[in-house]
Amino acid sequence: MQYLNVKKENEVIQITINREDKLNAMSLEVMNEFISVLDELEKDSSKVIIITGAGQKAFSAGADIEYMSKIGPTEAEKYALRGHEVLNKIEKLEKPVIAAINGYALGGGCELALSCDIRFASSNAQLGQPEVTLGICPGWGGTQRLLRIVGPARAKDLIFSGRRINAEEAMSMGLVNKVFSSENLISETKLYAKNVAKNSNFAVGISKMLVNRGMDTSLDTGLKLEIYSWAQCFATKEREERMSSFLHKK
Ligand code: HXC
Repeated sequence: MQYLNVKKENEVIQITINREDKLNAMSLEVMNEFISVLDELEKDSSKVIIITGAGQKAFSAGADIEYMSKIGPTEAEKYALRGHEVLNKIEKLEKPVIAAINGYALGGGCELALSCDIRFASSNAQLGQPEVTLGICPGWGGTQRLLRIVGPARAKDLIFSGRRINAEEAMSMGLVNKVFSSENLISETKLYAKNVAKNSNFAVGISKMLVNRGMDTSLDTGLKLEIYSWAQCFATKEREERMSSFLHKK
């Protein structure tokens, strides 16, 4: 891999976008590497994934403006589709994905973070959807996922103005879950990931699916899906073992 560093520590995988000189802007090559890595992670024994950016300055400054400056509608559609493929894979992966936002998360960088399940940010992080300043609208799910996370009024404010918000404001609107100092962001994220990894990955995975599906379905359908999924947990050996060890105070 040229643009992604993938490191495994026990059951936690850290993917680092490795294009520091361009503030981890996501070229087509970066997105293609994401597809390969995510295809592997779908099958392997890892339990939690962390995504971050190389260096101290950026998680990702978004899609590659140099590339976008040279393309027309046909290539633009392909670029959008590739991004959607990556972000949908992250969202549908049956394991939690945490964005460790270590600086700028702008445009496609913010959209990448939005496709993750949890967002932790460093105190110097800046998030935003500045696409309209470049004559484009968000194209990797920003209009849809931002809307679902912060609501329509805040999503429209961020998208129409293209303004950048700091970690504190992002937390106040529920866009990030927690803020850490730059020095502690990765260690705190790993600690959190390790704690999640101790839990049943079947139960965590199914919970992720239920929350995600719940956002786009009626309450009635979501509740029925929960009953069905809950019952499925009782078909697993792990559930039996975990309950038994609780009762035997192991
Ligand atoms: C390509 C980028 C880039 C990007 C930064 N760089 N962002 N290259 N695409 N998105 C490059 C710069 O050209 C420069 O390269 C180097 O990274 C360092 O950036 P500087 O601008 O010199 O750094 P600084 O002055 O500190 O400013 C940081 C910044 C600024 C505020 C983050 O770089 C910036 O505004 N970047 C663009 C952010 C943005 O608009 N993102 C949305 C893109 S649209 P050189 O070679 O000169 O050193 C998008 C659409 C998604 O994401 C949907 C797609 C379908």
